Amino acid sequence: MDHFQLRNGELYAEDVPLSRIAAEVGTPVYVYSRATFERHARAFRAGMERAGRVHLAYAIKANPNLAVLRVMANEGYGADVVSGGEMARALAAGMPASGIVFSGVGKTPAELTKGLEAGIGQFNIELEEEGEVLAALAAARGLTASAVLRVNPDVDAGTHAKISTGRKENKFGVPVDQAAAIFARLAGRPGLRLRGVAIHIGSQLQSLEPLEAAYRRIGALVAELRAAGHVIDRIDLGGGLGVPYQPGAVYPTPDALGEMTARVTAGWDVELMFEPGRVIAGNAGILLTRVIWVKPGVVHPYIIVDAAMNDLARPALYDAYHHFEAVRPAGDRMIANIAGPVCESGDTFAMAREIDRVVSGDLAIFRTAGAYGATMASTYNSRPLVPEVMVDGDRYAVVADRISAETIMHAERVPDWLDRV
Ligand code: LLP
Repeated sequence: MDHFQLRNGELYAEDVPLSRIAAEVGTPVYVYSRATFERHARAFRAGMERAGRVHLAYAIKANPNLAVLRVMANEGYGADVVSGGEMARALAAGMPASGIVFSGVGKTPAELTKGLEAGIGQFNIELEEEGEVLAALAAARGLTASAVLRVNPDVDAGTHAKISTGRKENKFGVPVDQAAAIFARLAGRPGLRLRGVAIHIGSQLQSLEPLEAAYRRIGALVAELRAAGHVIDRIDLGGGLGVPYQPGAVYPTPDALGEMTARVTAGWDVELMFEPGRVIAGNAGILLTRVIWVKPGVVHPYIIVDAAMNDLARPALYDAYHHFEAVRPAGDRMIANIAGPVCESGDTFAMAREIDRVVSGDLAIFRTAGAYGATMASTYNSRPLVPEVMVDGDRYAVVADRISAETIMHAERVPDWLDRV
């Protein structure tokens, strides 16, 4: 359930008509619903708490806007961060350092140091050398890094290849069959408190079965580690729960994930960590756009909208589906292609899709754009960086400005040696 619904023939975000935001802020613009974020945050927590003691670290890569992070902080979430920049955002939004998990296969020594100095709660170590460097950096400062070892369980998550992370050929984690030996070599190093293991097998998971298989593999690993005398008090189960992009698609709910987790992890006696991103943010945001032209096509007309692949990259990158709806649907339908103004044929949101009939000047939305939308935007074709709005009941705020090509040009220089003499 989300709060982007039709009222008297017009789409609203909570109690704000989208046409008002378009008139006042312009398009394209991302629109978030605070109530939807809160609803998802609470539903996810309720689901996971079925499995016992949990720590929830919102994967801020999904949507790192500071207003969104503040909502999640208010809901008691920590953050899963993958860069110094994301760490700075989590701290700026008021998330306690102790609730932050630092993930990522390429954390630099400078970023590890920044994390240590900030006192972040958990480093997810991806390879042995990183663990050695982290331990040395901490010990040199008289600190102890709280950490877990990310394990690659070698399961196929059954999702798009570009967002699959848990097969042995992927770059993430240490191979499950080497994990116990690497753990033993890292544990006990001065500066390091290695307290458990982490997995994350992929994103937009459509079924719980691969997750259950991965849980069972690390359950066996934890038993082996304990038998070898290691103290294990945390297991990070990652993120990845999928969301329905297509109307009517059915996905496992947080409740079902919690039930499966409770069943499989019974007796583990650890604090369970989760890193949800998409399931929190996906349906809490839409991309509001205006139809520039309806261009006759050889087979189907092209609906040319003012949003493009630089604003919402997922269709171009992953052939992702985002549902398209008119803000004031007239009732009849058409078959059309939907594309943006960027000069690439890849800048296409849909081909031969049945949609609400629209004409030039109409407003429309792409749904399920709250996760991996604005955060992946660029200024390609020197288009402005897309702004973001958060709605709360009958009010809204611009939570990220539209950044113009002129502003971006201010950060560029033409060296004087390029001047003709
Ligand atoms: N934890 C780790 C270690 C991750 O790598 C990710 C996502 C998450 C948690 C959050 O996963 P989620 O709950 O959102 O599925 N740009 C792609 C998705 C990339 C996901 C990367 N890692 C897309 O638009 O589909």
